[in-house]
Amino acid sequence: MEISSHEKVIVIDFGGQYNQLVARRVRECNVYCEIHSYRTPLAEILAMHPKGIILTGGPDSVYAENAAACDPSLFSSGIPVLGLCYGAQLMMHVLGGEVCRAPEREYGKTEVYLCGAASPLEAAAASASAGLPSEDKSLLFKGISSPTVCWMSHNDYIKRAADGFSITAFTDNCPVAAAEDVSRQLYAFQFHPEVMHTEHGFEMLRHFVMDICGCSGDWKMDDFAEKTVEELREKIGDGKVLCALSGGVDSSVAAVLLSKAVGKNLTCVFVDHGLLRKDEGDLVESVFGPQGAYDLNFIRINAQNRYYVKLAGVTDPNTKRMIIGEEFIRIFEEVGREIGHVDYLVQGTIYPDVVESGLGGESAVIKPHHNVGALPDVIDFKEILEPLRSLFKDEVRAVGLHLGIPEKLVMRQPFPGPGLAVRIIGDITAQKVRIVQEADAIFREEMEKAGLDRTASQYYAALTNLRSVGVMGDERTYDYAVALRSVNTVDFMTADVTEIPYEVLLRTSSRIVGEVDGVNRVFYDITSKPPATIELE
Ligand code: XMP
Repeated sequence: MEISSHEKVIVIDFGGQYNQLVARRVRECNVYCEIHSYRTPLAEILAMHPKGIILTGGPDSVYAENAAACDPSLFSSGIPVLGLCYGAQLMMHVLGGEVCRAPEREYGKTEVYLCGAASPLEAAAASASAGLPSEDKSLLFKGISSPTVCWMSHNDYIKRAADGFSITAFTDNCPVAAAEDVSRQLYAFQFHPEVMHTEHGFEMLRHFVMDICGCSGDWKMDDFAEKTVEELREKIGDGKVLCALSGGVDSSVAAVLLSKAVGKNLTCVFVDHGLLRKDEGDLVESVFGPQGAYDLNFIRINAQNRYYVKLAGVTDPNTKRMIIGEEFIRIFEEVGREIGHVDYLVQGTIYPDVVESGLGGESAVIKPHHNVGALPDVIDFKEILEPLRSLFKDEVRAVGLHLGIPEKLVMRQPFPGPGLAVRIIGDITAQKVRIVQEADAIFREEMEKAGLDRTASQYYAALTNLRSVGVMGDERTYDYAVALRSVNTVDFMTADVTEIPYEVLLRTSSRIVGEVDGVNRVFYDITSKPPATIELE
């Protein structure tokens, strides 16, 4: 089936922090979804034949000078529209309702009463100044009991719904938490159904997408891959493409998409900085190199010694990071000269990188990120391609599996760009790297045997810079202590220690001490994040 004929829902971006999350929820309903700026002309949006439109939240007030706006005829287009937070306020403002600065900013989890399900008395009292409460529960709240916890984050609020709307939900502070005009297919939520904190938010969005917009939900992430390959092929033509391949999930999936699109016009450069996990460089080469399944040019740069020389004697973690980043750029400069002309540079940027870098569409800057940037300064090219820019990690993995990339690569744990350099406290030497690689390989093997690899989010062995006395056979030893770390986390911002059974720890410890030369003690780090971080440096 031709991808463009798929039913789709368009998310119109007004600059909210959660706009990609809205798109993601729609995709979770197996409905294709695209995000477009509020600046996109309505005619262009309508030409995409969306089955529904969702207006996101945003930082503006509808009364602000140059506030993000939309073409009012959107609301008479006959296409179902759901406004969220700012999107809801804008809908009411444009259609003649009243939006005001709330006496108090409403933020956080809030009990929302659903009309038709709430007591009529409460509903009447809450909506006295706002319009008429609906006697029936909204179809969007089907199967959800009242009150229900929703996530609020707003300064302005809808004081009075526009004519024709009935109120379908309210809170203690918010007379119009939700409203709808079924005859015009217009729906408004003051809260954010897309975030996890809204208990039944996904169900609400699903009701909109499936029951109101009438989508059938036959789209899969697989279609994303086909569509992206097609688009890349069309865009690039016979241009030359360069990809810095780290062997991580994101750059691997991006590289395979490009290879499917342009074959040998793609060159992947893989820099082995000697700070990878054991055998990892060979794994990447076996997948992407000449023996692998993909049609592309693969260049492996073995730069281990070059890095060890630069890093010799350096102990400060951030200086290590800086040296590694800079050396990478120098290597690329040299490779760039050899490869010659490049039209496009591929980056495996994914959505969380975009948000953290403050590059996210209309949304505001949160914090700078270490993985985006730098390369573009030393390679002369026309444009950066970021085919995964709109996806979350698990979606990237789904695309990777669909493309047939080995599970071992696709399901890999996060691995820091500076690699083992941030898992070796103090200065780096080839011997220390060998110790960490071997200890880590043993730990990984034991975790896999125990089935813990399926539940732990990230685990590894690190080298403390501590040496201490031990006894091996009849000999005194003065060797390194290895630290094992394993965490369970959803977002990597906070993390719990994995409760590894004692026997797994004991077996790992005795294997490491027995099999890895230079180690006589093993510690298990039992600190959560915070106060510790996931990596040791
Ligand atoms: P921390 O140590 O900050 O780690 O708790 C959170 C997540 O980020 C990864 N991490 C890095 N990734 N470059 C990267 O590409 C880095 O310098 C870096 N430092 C930490 C870490 O592995 C974990 O998944």
